[in-house]
Order: sequence, then C-alpha cells, then structure tokens
Amino acid sequence: MTHPISIQLTSNFKPIPTDVKSSFGTAFTDHMFVMEYHEGQGWHDPRIVPYGNFDLSPATSMLHYGQAIFDGLKGFRGDDGVVRLFRPEAHAARVNRSAAQLCIPPMDPDMIVQSFLRLVDVDRAWVPSARGTAIYLRPTIIASEAFISVRPAKSYLYFVILSPVGAYYAEGNEPVSLLATEEFTRASPGGLGAAKTPANYAASLMAAEHAKKAGFTQVLWLDGVERRWLEEVGTMNLMVKIGGQVRTPPLGGTILAGVTRDSALTLMRDWGLDVVEKPISIEELVASVRDGTLEEMWGTGTAAVVSPVGMVGYRGERFQVADGRAGKVTERLYEAITSIQYGAAPDPHGWLAPVPLLN
Ligand SMILES: Cc1ncc(COP(=O)(O)O)c(C=O)c1O
Repeated sequence: MTHPISIQLTSNFKPIPTDVKSSFGTAFTDHMFVMEYHEGQGWHDPRIVPYGNFDLSPATSMLHYGQAIFDGLKGFRGDDGVVRLFRPEAHAARVNRSAAQLCIPPMDPDMIVQSFLRLVDVDRAWVPSARGTAIYLRPTIIASEAFISVRPAKSYLYFVILSPVGAYYAEGNEPVSLLATEEFTRASPGGLGAAKTPANYAASLMAAEHAKKAGFTQVLWLDGVERRWLEEVGTMNLMVKIGGQVRTPPLGGTILAGVTRDSALTLMRDWGLDVVEKPISIEELVASVRDGTLEEMWGTGTAAVVSPVGMVGYRGERFQVADGRAGKVTERLYEAITSIQYGAAPDPHGWLAPVPLLN
C-alpha cells in the first residue's frame, strides 16, 4: 500500500560528506519526514520536507516530562549499488511497542515503513558505499502539546532524520571493555526498560561517565532488584558462550528487544548452535572466567552490529574474556549479518527491504 506522502524538496542542498568511516550521528541529510497527531484527527499530513528546526513552545510537554520514543535502524548500499534497509518492519513494530508504553497513540506500521523507504529514496545520494558505513535512520515521536501537567499529551509529532555513519565505537570492531556496576541500574521490573525512550538513556549517562573514568568503554548493566543478573550493555544486547553453549538474557521487560539480537539468535539456530535465552549471573560469569569455560562474549546492536567484549570489570577486579580478542562465533555473526546487509549473501529470512526508486 502506498500512502499519499507530500514531498517538498530543498533548494539548498548541503555538501555530502565524503568520509564518514569514523563518525556517527554528526551529519544530517537534506530532508526529513514529518507527520502529526491531534486528538480527534489521528495521525495526519505525512510529508517529506527540507531538514530544519522545529518551532516548539517552551511548554511542549516532551521537554518537561519526557513523553517520547525513538528507534534506530540502518540502510546499506550494496556492491551492486542497491540501497536496502535492514528489517524495517521489525523496527516499525518496535516503534509502536515503545509508543504503547509511553501512552503515545499507535501508527499504521505500513506508514512507518513507508516513511523510512520514501525518505531514504529522496536522500539516496547520501547513502555511503564503503563497507562498515551506512545511512542511519532515526524515527522519533515527541509529545508536542504545550501544557505543563503530568498526563499523556493530546498532540504528537513524528519525524525521521537520516545520518550517514561509520563505526559507532572509537575501537571500531576491536574488543570493548565493560564495567559491571552495582551502584547504578538502568531499569527495574514494571519500568520502561523495554521501551526505546529518552528516559532510559538519560538514566544511563552518569553510569557511563563513571565507567569511562574507570577506564572502561561501557557499562554492563546488572538487574535493578538483586544487582547480580546480567541485563545488557550500554546500547547493545549481550551474549556469552560458556562451555559450548551460547546464552543471552531473556526478554523480561527490563531490556530492549534488539533486532540484531533476534537476527543473531535466528542465524545461530540456523547454524545448529546450542543457543538458550536464560539468565546469567555475574558470579557465574566470573566463575566461568576462572575455570576457563567462558569462550566468548559480545554485544549486538544496530550501531556496531556485533561488538566483541574483551574485558569485564567487577568489584575492583578485571576479568579477561578468553584471550581478550574477538571469538569465532562473534566473527562469524559479524560476517554473516554484514554480508546480508550489503546484499553480498542470500537473505533467507527476508530481512532486507530494497528502497524503490521513486524520485
Ligand atoms: C539499550 C539498548 N539495548 C539494545 C540495543 C540493540 O537493539 P538493536 O539491535 O535493535 O539495535 C539498543 C540499540 O538500539 C539499545 O539502545
């Protein structure tokens, strides 16, 4: 189904960056997608307009109470020149799941996918082609009603912006180090942990600064109740291979249901690996380092795809993961997922959506 999306092209095209290999989220393309919601009217006026500032009242409720959600996905230019989005339907579904948790009215998932495809089509020239680079899509919904009181807003603004990106971590695909902290927690049962909402990222800043000061790349979040169950990494889901078995924490409402997590689990099951979604305690992780059964540890996420973990800090000690380098499954997953993304390998699960040439 094609939705009537109006398009107003810019008359002021920006220079397209020629080297984005080591930048993430700093340059934005020429256009953005915008749509509004008003009570009684529903979502309306989908349009692509020149990238630019919004005119917002200082009383805009999102600015005060944080009623907002976002998501993040990527598009890739293959060696054949075709631009493909990776699992846009899965991201559209998560937009609506996050929205539901924040009392934001749902959108037609097909409209969300169309907003991705049409915008990337308009700014197609911005999609970089080097391996490791991509166009990053950032769909966002904010409560746009101007009022100062705590209740769900009656109007919302949905927008999508695009940014050509390279590596997310300064380390590139080198192993990252994680600090498991008992001092800070990210989410607790009944909270917002499963939603992609700004509050979760605001809550992570101080812990991330703390980890950086202690010499680690990111935080390894422990659960908010017992502070001993591994949850996820800064902006990635977590996987470990212990004694031949791959394990990842189950989706219990406190962690984000990562699309890369799901893709990795699907591929590893295709490969016949022993894979379980089962809680992992920090004590068990430490014991597996000590007895040599911890074979690999890695994070999964749209930004870095798969990121090897080389070191974990806990209670003042540092634990090296195996030989501290990327393990076999980690490397195989990175190769397999990126090969699918760049159209260099078959796509048996139908994860890719080629961006049709309409403009
Ligand atoms: C907190 C958190 N966990 C996990 C992920 C990984 O999710 P995905 O694979 O869908 O990018 C992200 C990134 O989106 C995240 O922000």
